[in-house]
Amino acid sequence: MEPVVLHRKASIAHLFSLIRDRETEYPEFSTRLGVLGATVIAESLEYAPFKNLTIHTPLEPANVRRIIESDIVGIPILRAGLGMVEPFQRILPNASVYHIGLKRDEKTLEPDYYYDSLPDDLTGRTIFILDPMLATGGSAIAAAQLVAKRNPVKIVFCGIIGAPEGLSALSEAFPDMPIFLGALDDHLDETGYIRPGLGDAGDRLFGT
Ligand code: PRP
Ligand code: URA
Repeated sequence: MEPVVLHRKASIAHLFSLIRDRETEYPEFSTRLGVLGATVIAESLEYAPFKNLTIHTPLEPANVRRIIESDIVGIPILRAGLGMVEPFQRILPNASVYHIGLKRDEKTLEPDYYYDSLPDDLTGRTIFILDPMLATGGSAIAAAQLVAKRNPVKIVFCGIIGAPEGLSALSEAFPDMPIFLGALDDHLDETGYIRPGLGDAGDRLFGT
């Protein structure tokens, strides 16, 4: 499945000019990344479950399409995924949020699992994995594997910046997974950073 990468509208280009800039410090970085996150999440909602219904405006009946928020689950990958939770909850206040804790080993770049709050069963739920950075793809794949065991309807990935290497790895591991990104960057460097990227998303989001 082809990834969806946001169009270079002026508003998106503006936000990327800020989050990529090393002069943009915490907390402005977190605010700007959150706005980009909202845009990616909103775009990804074409995969959200919905129902058609008739409501009554103050003037007359109207046929509308409404997302079934309670069938949706957002799963941020700690820590940096937390930067996309606030926009997710603003758009879908009735969706549940569960967390997965993964930390990349700096040498091997393999994700080390340290936490999850997932329920045993996700039957009937549509999952949106939230993580700003798709680098080697190891964290997104590990998170999706944990989720897939719980029998969800669908798993969608929402990220801010992806590397071609991570995108290929994730699409190969989960060919049917819709992947939404704010930008697809040039490459992954030998230390596992996305180039040009934005540096360490977790550190910049939390001022560490
Ligand atoms: C970062 C980022 C992703 C992961 C991406 O997290 O938030 O989760 O790296 O890299 P990958 O695609 O190569 O797995 P990190 O492990 O640095 O943890 P942090 O968010 O706690 O800083
Ligand atoms: N994680 C980050 O925070 N940044 C990268 O460039 C790669 C992984």
